[in-house]
Amino acid sequence: MKILNFVAITLFANILASTASAQVPEGKPPYDKGCSFCHNAGIAGAPRLGDPDAWRDRVAGGMARLYKSALEGTPKGMPSRGGVDGRSLTDNEIKYAVDYMVDKVKDALAAAPASADPAANAAAAAVQPTAPVLFSFNRLLRPLDKRNLAPPDDGIHDPENEGTHMLQSPAVGLADFVKSNFGNRVDWVATLESGKISPRWERTNPDAEGIVMDMNILRVPRGFMPNVVFPHKQHTEWLECSNCHPAIFIPQKGANQISMPLILLGQKCGVCHGKVSFPISECRKCHSQKKDAPQKAVGTP
Ligand code: HEC
Ligand code: HEC
Ligand code: HEC
Ligand code: HEC
Repeated sequence: MKILNFVAITLFANILASTASAQVPEGKPPYDKGCSFCHNAGIAGAPRLGDPDAWRDRVAGGMARLYKSALEGTPKGMPSRGGVDGRSLTDNEIKYAVDYMVDKVKDALAAAPASADPAANAAAAAVQPTAPVLFSFNRLLRPLDKRNLAPPDDGIHDPENEGTHMLQSPAVGLADFVKSNFGNRVDWVATLESGKISPRWERTNPDAEGIVMDMNILRVPRGFMPNVVFPHKQHTEWLECSNCHPAIFIPQKGANQISMPLILLGQKCGVCHGKVSFPISECRKCHSQKKDAPQKAVGTP
């Protein structure tokens, strides 16, 4: 037990020392920009800034693993690069942000590397899932190397079927599209806006035009989360009114009960988001307006 403790402390000391040279002050701006949104409050199970218990076992896994998780995301809900807000950060800035987060718990961990207790280790091991758990709210979230596989390898198409081998691989087909860090790695709204694609409104009629309606709907959620701006424009560029009205939403502002639990269960916005459009982990894409922002700033044109 004594020896174990010693080993654990030395291990921690080594890992923590390896961050000593790290870019701690440089880490705060990228952290504030791309990470604070979830890590300040512990949203969706994110380890909270400055909470040693949330970080102990993660830090014990070494800095290289943490950098990798931050850059590539994890199956348990850490979005690659932190998602929307972190998209513009460089690899180094993301690593500095990790250094900054670890620095916040460094002293507390050095003082109490609790996992040195073999019983606690066994308990911790018991709750570690052996296979990556896919969050149900993030049905499109896959490890980086499992995304956009060629049809014979994607687990959807029948590899025995000849036709499967004639299909283009998404990795090739989507290569020129505007990139995103989530879902199938394409920002479909930006790709459409860039003119790289012009999908047909009707399959059999190349000249048919849809009705695009530019009307934002503001929803003010209970609690601390930023307001949700639902844009009709970006939806009606892809979808007919009847895709949503009236089956999913009564077309009247505020007439529908919409909540996060329902969305996570695949209802309301969750009928599409997380299945065929960007995943629920991209909180900021929907919760895009500051709570205290003057309501008239939201455009109902
Ligand atoms: C949308 C919410 C969200 C944002 C934004 C976010 N994270 Fe996370 N992060 C999470 C969640 C959830 C977890 C826990 C996932 C897990 O246990 O695998 C996590 C875990 C981590 C971990 C620990 C990973 C591990 O393997 O133990 C690191 C490091 C991390 N985040 C760094 C960052 C950095 C750096 C940023 C900003 C560039 C960031 N996060 C932005 C949600 C977020
Ligand atoms: C992706 C789903 C979706 C599509 C497609 C869609 N809407 Fe809506 N619509 C909504 C939501 C969500 C609301 C807000 C409901 C609420 O606040 O309870 C809404 C509200 C409305 C309202 C009420 C506005 C108000 O101020 O009360 C009208 C009118 C409306 N939609 C018309 C349309 C028309 C016309 C189309 C097609 C051109 C369309 N919608 C396409 C989801 C959609
Ligand atoms: C019928 C399917 C459907 C429903 C229901 C739906 N969406 Fe969408 N949403 C889409 C599609 C498709 C896109 C465009 C492709 C993409 O961004 O993934 C989109 C795009 C968006 C965008 C624009 C993102 C950008 O990059 O500009 C926002 C914001 C959004 N949805 C929020 C919501 C909210 C909030 C709800 C519920 C009130 C909702 N959506 C319900 C299908 C849907
Ligand atoms: C597809 C759009 C969308 C995404 C993505 C999204 N939300 Fe929401 N969220 C909503 C809508 C719509 C509401 C309901 C607002 C209202 O009350 O009118 C909501 C409400 C909430 C509420 C208030 C409580 C409740 O259930 O009504 C919380 C908290 C919340 N969201 C957290 C999150 C977090 C955390 C994330 C990211 C992990 C997230 N949301 C991602 C659309 C979204």
